[in-house]
Amino acid sequence: MWTLRIGIILLVIQESSATTGNIVRELAQASRSTIFIVRSDQCPQTWLQQLLVAPPVPVILQSLSNETTGKPFSRVLCLVCFRENDFAEEQLVSLLHNFRRERIVFYVASRQFNSTSLDLLRVLMRLCYRLQVVHVIGLLAEDEEHHYYRYQPYPDFKVEQHPIQRRPLYIEHYPNMQRQPLTILPDQKYPRTIIYTDWRTGSEVLAGSVGRFVRTLAWKLNATLQYPVQVRPGHSLSTHEMMIMAKALHVDIPAGIVSIDLSEQLPHMSYPFELSRICLMIPIALPIPIRDIYLVLCSVQHLLIALAITVGIGWLLSLHKHLNGQTPSAVDLVLNDVAMRGLLGQSFGRIVKRRLSSSWIYLMLGFLGLNFSSIHEAALGTLLTQPPKHFQPRSFEDLQHVRTPLPLVVDVSDFSNFSKVSALSLPMLAVNVSELNHLRDNLNMSHVYFASRLKWTLLSAQQKYFPQEVFLYSDDACISTLTLMAFQLPKNSWFEEHISRLTMDARATGLFQHWIDMHFYDMAAAGLISFRDPVDRMFPRSGGALQLRDLQWIWFGYAVLLGFALAAFGVEVISKRA
Ligand SMILES: *[C@@H]1O[C@H](CO)[C@@H](O)[C@H](O)[C@H]1NC(C)=O
Ligand SMILES: *[C@@H]1O[C@H](CO)[C@@H](O)[C@H](O)[C@H]1NC(C)=O
Ligand SMILES: *[C@@H]1O[C@H](CO)[C@@H](O)[C@H](O)[C@H]1NC(C)=O
Ligand SMILES: *[C@@H]1O[C@H](CO)[C@@H](O)[C@H](O)[C@H]1NC(C)=O
Ligand SMILES: *[C@@H]1O[C@H](CO)[C@@H](O)[C@H](O)[C@H]1NC(C)=O
Ligand SMILES: *[C@@H]1O[C@H](CO)[C@@H](O)[C@H](O)[C@H]1NC(C)=O
Ligand SMILES: *[C@@H]1O[C@H](CO)[C@@H](O)[C@H](O)[C@H]1NC(C)=O
Repeated sequence: MWTLRIGIILLVIQESSATTGNIVRELAQASRSTIFIVRSDQCPQTWLQQLLVAPPVPVILQSLSNETTGKPFSRVLCLVCFRENDFAEEQLVSLLHNFRRERIVFYVASRQFNSTSLDLLRVLMRLCYRLQVVHVIGLLAEDEEHHYYRYQPYPDFKVEQHPIQRRPLYIEHYPNMQRQPLTILPDQKYPRTIIYTDWRTGSEVLAGSVGRFVRTLAWKLNATLQYPVQVRPGHSLSTHEMMIMAKALHVDIPAGIVSIDLSEQLPHMSYPFELSRICLMIPIALPIPIRDIYLVLCSVQHLLIALAITVGIGWLLSLHKHLNGQTPSAVDLVLNDVAMRGLLGQSFGRIVKRRLSSSWIYLMLGFLGLNFSSIHEAALGTLLTQPPKHFQPRSFEDLQHVRTPLPLVVDVSDFSNFSKVSALSLPMLAVNVSELNHLRDNLNMSHVYFASRLKWTLLSAQQKYFPQEVFLYSDDACISTLTLMAFQLPKNSWFEEHISRLTMDARATGLFQHWIDMHFYDMAAAGLISFRDPVDRMFPRSGGALQLRDLQWIWFGYAVLLGFALAAFGVEVISKRA
């Protein structure tokens, strides 16, 4: 009889401790925890010993005052025990700050079986609500492991009691916010976040990949999107401004993605939303105008070579003349008429008497003239049909050597470490975000710009509407080849997990790619795309006829030479008269 009773009592104890162990074990499994931290000051020794017989994961025992942060570990399950109502609030707050994202279990072991312990649990849960710590489970010793507690933040704070068998233990992935407002602050950096008024319905639309993402998130959470009144459509915010405003206005989600540059940012970052690279957009070099092709052909070098050959052959002819007993004229030594005409491929008369040796000179001159004029003709024909281009810079070094400097337009506040950019020693033009967007979106060709891969995808779609492309994206001039861009959230934000989860879902389902593909449509619908060709295309009119202004330099040269001839004629007339 006695043994039976003892047996039953032992069974009851075993049963109850097994349940406690089970729930903690299940919590550890549900959260896929890697470590179990027990703040053991107040935990009843017997309970603790039972728990530690077969710990689900490695266990660390600490007091509440120990300043261990969650940083060295990921996926921590933290168990804190309480006995009396006088808990150390400050220590608890600092603990909750450090374990904000982790799973937390409160165990309240009260000596008296009255309602005080539930009140204590309520106070603790409200503290968690205030600090936006979501994953909290409460266990009361006096419940004898029949119930557990957690709180519902929406629509109002409420502590709920659940039977111990009730699953899931933690609140579901996307809680139902019951149409509560979700305040967001769009940074309006095109094309990721665009706010515009739809001209058909007159309603304000949030578009762009980040904008659509936030709309989807609000739909998932059954929340109502809301902006602070300070948001003005069309007014872009720099990252710095956005973060300051988000803090001041108690915004839930700053709807703009920032690049992850510093490790200090990591605790408040979501899962990377976009992988990008940041390279230079460089204007495509324009073709040389047709009228300037004559200048290319008649370069100083070419003229000097022609002059040297003319003078050389002139001297040869004069020498030949001299050897034949004739006196060469002084003018022939400077500019020989025959050599000149021969070189230009024109017909010329003989000045030296018919001799076999002189014939060789004339034959050589004839061939030379033929060769020269055919080379020249070929070059002119090629250049007129395919005008050459000015120098095309592609790298940072090239940009330092272009003749007309192309200043790099930057928004200084967008770089967390500006020294990297200033080390490029390029001419720079610092402007604000709106101005930068305006210049870049209108493809102003007086500057070069940094652009992410995504921005470039949009701009290259835009420039397909022009007869020719106006910018190139240079892979040789990248400031970063892998940039992770993510949402930077306020210090205590319980949307972080939802944002990260939805980001992964959107990528896995191809929704993200769809949002990217919609950028051009969104920008066009918002009237933010300029279809005006930034180049004033006078040339090349491929296949078109030459125009008067194309021959400008020929007219000019003709006038100058005619002037010379008239002057020479005048001098001759005057010298003959005298
Ligand atoms: C926790 O704090 C106690 C005293 O408050 C100290 O003895 C102990 O070493 C600390 N443990 C850790 C892991 O810091
Ligand atoms: C509950 O027990 C505590 C002592 O632990 C006592 O101070 C308190 O008055 C009791 N509350 C009720 C409602 O009985
Ligand atoms: C969203 O919240 C409203 C208000 O509480 C509720 O009526 C509606 O059923 C919820 N929608 C979903 C899909 O749960
Ligand atoms: C001109 O002469 C050069 C040198 O002999 C020769 O290489 C070239 O082919 C000639 N060009 C023509 C068009 O005959
Ligand atoms: C900025 O980058 C430069 C080199 O790229 C580095 O030397 C410097 O320490 C960085 N500054 C900060 C504040 O990170
Ligand atoms: C940006 O700069 C332009 C001209 O530099 C100025 O007109 C505009 O008001 C500025 N915008 C902001 C938001 O400061
Ligand atoms: C490009 O920007 C410069 C000033 O930075 C301005 O003078 C020029 O008119 C702009 N060009 C076009 C086509 O808007």
